[in-house]
Amino acid sequence: METQIGNDSEYAASLLRQGQLVAIPTETVYGLAANALMSSAVLDIFRVKGRPAFDPLIVHVDNPDRISEYATHIPDEAWALAERFWPGPLTLVLQKATCIPDEVSSGLDTVGLRMPDHPITLELLKRTGFPLAAPSANPFGYISPTTAQHVHDQLQGKIPYILDGGPCRVGVESTIVGFEKDGPVIYRLGGLTVEDIRSVVPAVGMRVNASSDPRAPGMLKSHYAPRIPLFLGDVESLLSEHAGKRIGMLVFNGWHVPTTPVDALQVLSPSGDVNEAAGRLFSAMRVLDNAGVDVVLAETVPDEGLGKAINDRLRRAAHRK
Ligand code: TXA
Ligand code: MG
Repeated sequence: METQIGNDSEYAASLLRQGQLVAIPTETVYGLAANALMSSAVLDIFRVKGRPAFDPLIVHVDNPDRISEYATHIPDEAWALAERFWPGPLTLVLQKATCIPDEVSSGLDTVGLRMPDHPITLELLKRTGFPLAAPSANPFGYISPTTAQHVHDQLQGKIPYILDGGPCRVGVESTIVGFEKDGPVIYRLGGLTVEDIRSVVPAVGMRVNASSDPRAPGMLKSHYAPRIPLFLGDVESLLSEHAGKRIGMLVFNGWHVPTTPVDALQVLSPSGDVNEAAGRLFSAMRVLDNAGVDVVLAETVPDEGLGKAINDRLRRAAHRK
């Protein structure tokens, strides 16, 4: 199969109507989309991604009113969050309606819903009239794609079409919020900050580190794993530990030790802006993973705003002995 890249949303819609897969841009990362109401198409996502069947998919919708179509028992806080932040990088995990196939939710009785903030994908959703199930468009466990080229590099030959919407503005995946007996809980840190969520739901809880928790199986520790081992810490100390190796380095806003040149350097934000750093994170990780180095040495960024999501991804990407 030849994989085309283009910006023809009607062509993308026609493929999706036939049950085929299309990679789609969102403001966070590119998704690998199928008709969420067609089980056979949804199963194809798991096959192409190499994703285990127990890891549920997010369903993308074109409008907050769809919540009542695809979910039931919707808490007031969910409506308030959707009203304030949709379209945007926020996924709400709600009790699923019966029209959502079990393949989408991996047999759970909940479904993740999100309205993405990208004009061409919203246009696509209007054209199809059905919602799109879409995980990030990377092979399972690898770094998420933030450009059409990233998708092409890895899924070339496996899907017919990549809808190109340019580089993703936010750069890290959506923040996931679920609703439990004791109230709303953040399952995954992401493109909407904790501070933003607290501005609407002050008492929101946090359950982001449960690596084997079936409520957020995507938080598996193997996630975001580059091929080249990545070490996280103080880059100066890491450099002396790894002396003699070919070094790739990933830093926040700059690095100045002219006596020890590194083989490949990526600076996330020269001006020290965590939003810019989030936008560049996954591209920078991919560049270093393909730079022919032995190790990548990385530092965390300030733990504020999107910095929390960046640090979460770096920790999950880090090498474990
Ligand atoms: O920004 C994003 O969320 C991107 C774009 C494409 O929308 N999508 C994305 O999908 O990151 P994925 O599949 O890579 O990550 C979705 C996460 C997984 O960790 C999955 O376990 C969790 O969402 N998830 C989905 N449905 C869930 C549910 N019903 N309960 C708990 N977690 C759920
Ligand atoms: Mg993913």
